[in-house]
Amino acid sequence: MQQLAVLASGRGSNFQALIDACARGHFPASIALLITDNPGAFAIERAERAGIPYRIVDFSASPSKTAYDAALEAAMVESGADLFVLAGYMRILAGPTVARFAGKMINIHPALLPSFPGLHAQRQALAYGVRVSGCTVHFVDEGMDTGPIILQRCVEVLDGDDEDTLAERILAEEHRALPDAVRLFCEGRLRIDGRRVRRLP
Ligand code: GRF
Repeated sequence: MQQLAVLASGRGSNFQALIDACARGHFPASIALLITDNPGAFAIERAERAGIPYRIVDFSASPSKTAYDAALEAAMVESGADLFVLAGYMRILAGPTVARFAGKMINIHPALLPSFPGLHAQRQALAYGVRVSGCTVHFVDEGMDTGPIILQRCVEVLDGDDEDTLAERILAEEHRALPDAVRLFCEGRLRIDGRRVRRLP
């Protein structure tokens, strides 16, 4: 059975979607560890409820970004996980950490990449005026939301939408996309081929 480590910084609804998917056997893996940079993250409560161990690598208590990066990488290595899932993890990973876990780390982003990377993706989508947005699960590379795309799900942008209503509609799709991507990975069905991620039958 493969092991997942989930990194989350806050509310953790995507983490919860993984917990629920794991409980119904949606993917052949168990969740070994939650790692968070935020001692106040609600994700911690979700881990406690589900009996999942967690580690807090407290960014604000770290003497420097370098010290934080080293502690985070050590926690990831110690987890022994086969796959690292960034589920609302709000910090940029250090280059050497990204390189170390290349091909074994995925992220979810609330827009159809390459549109609207970075923060406030839903706000960016509304400001641009797109009629369709959605979410993207991708492998993590050293750029900001630039890695090879595993899967995307779309939602309509409605006339009356504000950032909250659009975020909520996208989030419902995130909660389906992330467990599906984990499943494809854990079933060994993903092959990175340059920018493209090919799916084996
Ligand atoms: C999600 O929209 C995710 O795509 C983005 O941050 C949000 C985290 O939500 N990176 P949650 O913590 O999973 O509820």
